[in-house]
Amino acid sequence: MNVLVIGGGGREHAMAWKLAESDKVQMVFVAPGNGGTALDSRLKNVPITDVVALREWAQENKIGLTVVGPEGPLASGVVDEFRAHGLRIFGPTKAAAQLESSKAFSKAFMQRHNIPTAAYEAFTDPTAAHAYVQRMGAPIVVKADGLAAGKGVVVAMTLEEAHAAIDFMLLDNTLGVVHNAGEGGQAVPRVVIEEFLVGEEASFMVLCDGKDVVALATSQDHKRLLDDDQGPNTGGMGAYSPAPVVTPQVHARAMREIILPTLKGMEQDGIPYTGFLYAGLMIDPQGQVKTLEFNCRMGDPETQPILMRLKTDFVDVMMAATDAGGLANMELDWDRRTALGVVLAAHGYPSTPRKGDVIEGLPTANKLSDEASMVFHAGTEQRDGATLTNGGRVLCVTALAENARAARQAAYEAIHGIRFNGMQYRTDIGHRAVKQAGEAKAAK
Ligand code: AMP
Ligand code: GLY
Repeated sequence: MNVLVIGGGGREHAMAWKLAESDKVQMVFVAPGNGGTALDSRLKNVPITDVVALREWAQENKIGLTVVGPEGPLASGVVDEFRAHGLRIFGPTKAAAQLESSKAFSKAFMQRHNIPTAAYEAFTDPTAAHAYVQRMGAPIVVKADGLAAGKGVVVAMTLEEAHAAIDFMLLDNTLGVVHNAGEGGQAVPRVVIEEFLVGEEASFMVLCDGKDVVALATSQDHKRLLDDDQGPNTGGMGAYSPAPVVTPQVHARAMREIILPTLKGMEQDGIPYTGFLYAGLMIDPQGQVKTLEFNCRMGDPETQPILMRLKTDFVDVMMAATDAGGLANMELDWDRRTALGVVLAAHGYPSTPRKGDVIEGLPTANKLSDEASMVFHAGTEQRDGATLTNGGRVLCVTALAENARAARQAAYEAIHGIRFNGMQYRTDIGHRAVKQAGEAKAAK
């Protein structure tokens, strides 16, 4: 069978690499792919991003299964388009993808279905938004209502920051994000302003076939640019799996209080959910779980360590997940070790990433080495025999080892020798897991 992965980031490199391991697959096409997928002989890049053109190409090339990586094509209706032509594709429809593409949609949905989340209000009028913030006080969180590549959230520790966020999101709309451009009404910027939550975050992802649901391994990412969770928010600077903070109790709670009511609620609302569903969790010290956000896709970079641990044939998993009820008897087999990935980002990331820097010291074999490490590419391209940076997050160096400490060490060792001008990365990926493992050992 020929398989298509839509996207070109580190997550899609990991998906394509995992799908290519299956003996049921002849070729994995990646659209548009990146400099890493270009190097692997089992993968082939396809330079198409338009949704209709992709569907036509998939029909011409007899693609038996399509897996969608990023939110953009989902929010543009790629699943609707493929399904309308009888093609097998894993992901939510455009309507279901609103769980991610509109903060106001997902907050109203959670409120309506009693899914735990921060208290909030939505605003299009800056004056009313300013007054609300003034009344609620800081800290408070201001979110642009739309896809903003991780830049649309301001966790304001002071009232000044909150007022400034309202101004740049609503008044000036510097992000250029507008809500429901498709709803018929005039597209205007909107913000969601919500209660500041305290606790530890985790990424909780499941697969949904429209009827049944299977949880993926747990993970945690690091959203801030700099060590000790300082600096601006990014798409994620590193991740690991499993996340010790997701204890069996927290896991059960997240399924019972968030995931299952969400799937049921979507069905009740006439928008049945299929695809990956990612709940960003905030876990408070008492083990109470709240939903920070939904994503309608897997996380990046969480996917890289998660898929490194998956032992079940990923093609079998995706085939089952694209049949209603197909996941009913699916059990996923995970490597019990820890996988940890460190993102190497470009100069100027996240605000103004520079492209075109030559990357040196990459491993030549684009496979798992003996040390069980893998360099997943994201913002890279091949040009004249060289690998160049081509985006904000450039590589995710991921390693699998006995525990969080060993995986961290192996990942940082695998980075040694890789260099490009302006390369930036955090040196503390996995610090919480390493600390928690240490505490668990001390308690024994
Ligand atoms: P989001 O894209 O909504 O997940 O927000 C991005 C990041 O902002 C999250 O990963 C959190 O670190 C932070 N954040 C979002 N909402 C809240 C909240 N209500 N309280 C505290 N931090 C938040
Ligand atoms: N790493 C967070 C996300 O993919 O949204």
